[in-house]
Amino acid sequence: MTDLHALQEEIKSRVAEACDVHSVEQIRITYLGRKGTLTRLFQKLGSVKPAQRRELGQALNALKSYSESVLRDKLRDLATEPEGLDPAFDPTLPGVRPCVGRLHPITQTIRMICDVFVRLGFEIVDGREVETEFHNFTALNIPLDHPSRDAFDTFYTDTGGLLRSQTSTVQIRQMQKRKPPLRVIAPGKVFRPDAVDASHSFMFHQIEGLMVDRDTTFSDLKGILHVFLRKLFGKNIRMRYRPHFFPFTEPSVEVDVSWGKGWLELLGAGQVDPAVFQAVGYDPRQVQGFAFGLGVERIAMLKYGIKDIRLFFENDLRFLRQF
Ligand code: PHE
Repeated sequence: MTDLHALQEEIKSRVAEACDVHSVEQIRITYLGRKGTLTRLFQKLGSVKPAQRRELGQALNALKSYSESVLRDKLRDLATEPEGLDPAFDPTLPGVRPCVGRLHPITQTIRMICDVFVRLGFEIVDGREVETEFHNFTALNIPLDHPSRDAFDTFYTDTGGLLRSQTSTVQIRQMQKRKPPLRVIAPGKVFRPDAVDASHSFMFHQIEGLMVDRDTTFSDLKGILHVFLRKLFGKNIRMRYRPHFFPFTEPSVEVDVSWGKGWLELLGAGQVDPAVFQAVGYDPRQVQGFAFGLGVERIAMLKYGIKDIRLFFENDLRFLRQF
């Protein structure tokens, strides 16, 4: 009986040490298998004196069911425990929090703006950053002697291309490959060789909008911009349409916004100039539409109260983490 008690302790501690299904099975074979320790003890029962046989038999049966149940419990524990835990891993130590990334404030602003236009039925489209003179200037009705074509105002490549200085290039690309009606919005980078300071960067982002149909009027433009600016800046925003000139729109306006004191210039817009329709092969007598272009950094700066455009491009995490 003392031996049986020792045997129970032995089984208990071996099962406790087992760390995978395979070693549990080995333990089972050792004690309960066909030639296992317990099995042999059962076989020897017959040669025990009848007086002790009954008591011994009961003890053996108890040990057998004890062994079966610890093995079963162990298998269940192994199935729920993650396998292959590094023994050096201490699950009681406080965790190491991973650095969670987030979207850049410019990306957030672009998405916020595009969201509004998508709900107004506009489709988000892409253009390219390396462009031709045709798409950046000529097709947009910008004459050869216009100052913006100057090398001081546009980055030219060695091979006769350029880095687009405005997203209006996407108007041309879209109209060249599609037929009206058209309702698109095109976010992207633009480049200008400006000296960098608190309000200038040689690269920034614009969003271009273009809507063309049979009779898309200036009041459609006003309606769309009205919905957009209220969504972006709240119901109390005031808007002002100031006459302006762009070669590719006629009439053209600059749109200013105000929260009370003073006006802030926000975007350029106007009715697409017939010369632009002609350049892309649309018949200006059949279609009309509007276009607008806005600076993303400018809007982000207004919205978040940021005073220096360079903050967007320095990748300083102390700045970026605030968004
Ligand atoms: N492309 C103009 C700019 O960069 C903005 C604009 C777009 C104006 C579309 C009118 C229509 O300033």
